[in-house]
This record gives sequence, structure tokens and C-alpha cells, in this order.
Amino acid sequence: MQISIRPLEKNISQILPLAESYQRSYNQLSSGYKKPEEMALYKKGFFIKKLRKIAEDENSIVAVLNVDDNPRGFVRYSQIPQYYKHSADNLTQDLEHGFLDGYEFAWYRKVHFNRDVKLDDKTLIVNQIYLDPQIQNQGLGTYLLQKTIPELKKQGFESLIIEYNAHNANAAKFYRGIGFEPFALTKDFDHIIHPQAKTEFCVSDVEIAYTTIDRAIQKMSDKHLDFAFMMTRARNDKTY
Ligand SMILES: CC(C)(COP(=O)(O)OP(=O)(O)OC[C@H]1O[C@@H](n2cnc3c(N)ncnc32)[C@H](O)[C@@H]1OP(=O)(O)O)[C@@H](O)C(=O)NCCC(=O)NCCS
Repeated sequence: MQISIRPLEKNISQILPLAESYQRSYNQLSSGYKKPEEMALYKKGFFIKKLRKIAEDENSIVAVLNVDDNPRGFVRYSQIPQYYKHSADNLTQDLEHGFLDGYEFAWYRKVHFNRDVKLDDKTLIVNQIYLDPQIQNQGLGTYLLQKTIPELKKQGFESLIIEYNAHNANAAKFYRGIGFEPFALTKDFDHIIHPQAKTEFCVSDVEIAYTTIDRAIQKMSDKHLDFAFMMTRARNDKTY
């Protein structure tokens, strides 16, 4: 197994296979709390468009994980969203708007922090990390962060936050293992507007966790990840 990390480019030969991995990972994760009708809207085109948009975003740092030269996952670090800087209970912000297979959708964040959040410009948000389900739980997510977080430190960043579904026990365990400590709860509102003007929400609880970059580097250095470690955890029963 050959592992490498590359920047995200707006090049279809990279975006297409990455979108497929992203779709598999997202759908596996969301199937636990989204209705099948809503899940059916997240087709490959949605993930291609999303990745193209991310590739154009100058305020994000994105690293793609390649396994045997195939893009199989990515992490995206971005500036802290405005709603963290001006948090107010029950303030709803329209953050993303578009069309999903002909349906208009809007993604809202209803800010409802259970404590004050004061984050400065030296803090980044890990706003996406998705690995193909076929390569999860083999040490590769840790490896991706182990290789990219020290680069953020070199660029002057000092701390990180992450948001994840409060019922995503794997993600919570993963982030705790590398130093993140949960400090707030909020809610996510996925809002689908049907052609007949019917609206539906998928509301989910979101936990927010924080770490200094130094603590994450220290925690990850304790893991001593290497290729031998990954090979021993690699699942041989997976088909690609
Ligand atoms: C969360 C994610 C990035 C972690 O990457 P990963 O390569 O699977 O994680 P690692 O193998 O490096 O695992 C590190 C720890 O995470 C936990 N973990 C990860 N996947 C797990 C799983 N499927 N089941 C149980 N624990 C899991 C384990 O505690 C593991 O610790 P250990 O080494 O002490 O056992 C990856 O599983 C993923 O893409 N998941 C789907 C998308 C997602 O949940 N993204 C986060 C949304 S914010």
C-alpha cells in the first residue's frame, strides 16, 4: 500500500474518483440520521460540484489522501465561520444554498451554544474530513492529520476546532484520541424545499471540540503510525 498526500486541484481526473469516495463516506455516515428520500438526492454530481467549489476556495487548505495513487479521502481546514464570532442564541444563518437534483436546498446553522465561544484568527476549523469507508479505521485518518497539522503550525496557526454529529461515536472517539475536547453543542438544519413549496428539515445535534495544535501534534506523535501498523490493520476482505 502506497500512501501519499496531495493538494486538491480542479482537475477532473482527481475530482471524479475523490467525489466517489466522498459520496460513499458521506452516505454511510448520513444513513444513520437522514431519511432515504433525502439521501437519494445526494448523487455523484453534488459531490463533484462541492469538491470543485472547495478547490476554488482560497480560504481553505485541503489535503487529499492517495492510496496506491488513487484519491480516497481528504481533509479541509478553513477559517472560523462568522457565526462563531458573533454567536447569539437562536440566530439562524443561511450558510449554503443551491439545487440538489432539481430540489432547492438551504443549509442552516442555528447557533445555540451552551457556553461562550471566543476564537481568534489563529484558530482553524476542520470543516470536512472524509475517508472512503473501505479504508477507514486503518490509521489513515490519523496519518492524514499527522502529516498536515504540523504544516498549519508552520503557517502560524495555533488551534483547531471540529464539529461532528453528536451521535457519531466513531468520529468523537477519533477526535478525542488526537487531543480534541468537546466544549459546546449546537444544531444543524438541512432544509430541503420541495417543488410544491413543502419544506422539510433534517435537524441534527452537533458537538464542537477544540484542541491546540501543539496538543494534537503531541497526541499524534504518541501513536507512532507507520506503514507496518497500517498493514496489520488493513482489512483484506474489502473490494474496491
Ligand atoms: C472519522 C475518520 C476521518 C477517522 O479516520 P480513520 O482512518 O477511520 O481513523 P483511524 O484509523 O486513524 O482511527 C483512529 C481512531 O478512531 C476510532 N475509529 C475510527 N473509525 C472507527 C470505526 N469505524 N469504528 C470504531 N472506531 C473507529 C478508533 O477509536 C481509532 O482509535 P484506535 O486506533 O485507538 O482504535 C474516518 O473514519 C471517516 O472518514 N469517517 C466517515 C466520515 C466522518 O465521520 N467524518 C467526520 C465528520 S466530522
